[in-house]
Amino acid sequence: MNTIQVELGNRSYPIWVKPGLLSDLPDKLQIFNHGQQWVIITQPFLAGEYGSRLAEQLKANDFRVALLTIPKGEQAKALSRVESLYEDLLRMKCDRSTTILALGGGVVGDVAGFVAATFMRGIDYIQVPTTLLAMVDSSIGGKTGVNLPQGKNLVGAIYQPKAVAVDPHFLRSLPLRELVSGFAEVLKYGAIRDREFFHLLGKNMEILLSLGDDQMLEDAIARSCAIKAAIVSADEREGGMRRILNFGHTIGHALETTTGYNVLRHGEAIAFGMLCAGFISRNLGFIGSDEWERFRDTLYQLPLPELPSIDPEVVLETITLDKKVQAGTLHFVLLEEIGKAVVSTDVTEDDLLEALEIL
Ligand code: GLY
Repeated sequence: MNTIQVELGNRSYPIWVKPGLLSDLPDKLQIFNHGQQWVIITQPFLAGEYGSRLAEQLKANDFRVALLTIPKGEQAKALSRVESLYEDLLRMKCDRSTTILALGGGVVGDVAGFVAATFMRGIDYIQVPTTLLAMVDSSIGGKTGVNLPQGKNLVGAIYQPKAVAVDPHFLRSLPLRELVSGFAEVLKYGAIRDREFFHLLGKNMEILLSLGDDQMLEDAIARSCAIKAAIVSADEREGGMRRILNFGHTIGHALETTTGYNVLRHGEAIAFGMLCAGFISRNLGFIGSDEWERFRDTLYQLPLPELPSIDPEVVLETITLDKKVQAGTLHFVLLEEIGKAVVSTDVTEDDLLEALEIL
């Protein structure tokens, strides 16, 4: 098992990564169990296969456990849904000692984390991510949030979990596109912080995507978690270094918005965004042509879908409206080399347009 620590003083917490960890959870969670009510928040399609099994295992080990489900997809992040979760918790006589287990992908983590941050002014929660994207990204770092009709994640809190339990065996039931989407974020970690990891991933992408090597998969996930943990430990509230996690995200988010959220998976959009960011890095002289080609060829190890035709001007308009444009300044993440990201405020609209043309 790999154990990584997010270092945040008295709010520090471990990330455990181990294939088959789900079966060990009663044992691992025993240190947090003091007779309180535990509530597993999950989604219907996960409740049957995993949620009920986890609840039974915990009950057999003297945990008091209940299971709540939220709908699949972004609709679960409506405030009205969150309100009904608070009501469920009250009906179950939950109090400040209650601990939430967030069993699912990014939506479950965001909602369960937000409920934990706000119910009774904050109760403990533990992330049990079931998608690759959640394992390496959204379960770590404490950003929680829900949506308003005006936009996604407009209401939220930074509220850290007590632990993150990653079982890569969940990935066996994940569709290939979701896996590819997750590996785009894994490649991102290599690109921004760890050159050797990036090359290793490129070399082994086929076997990683086939889930054919448990140890290699565990190590790739753990290495990604370690990079995210180190960045969050250094900059919890995105005052500086945490910005490099947005590599590929400025253009990626704009592509998600302009193509309509269900055309591209998040990681696929980020992969296209990283391609553009790499291209801009070369055009501005941050990296040479060889480095750019190495970067591009490795990203294309991912079986990405065909990008629907986009109008670069419309994408650009979306970027300028994006929340990363702070006080009129675009903070754009570029590569100084593979494995080293920098934040630049010098990327112009023309640079962005030229990059969008390559897609
Ligand atoms: N929960 C995701 C993050 O804080 O980055």
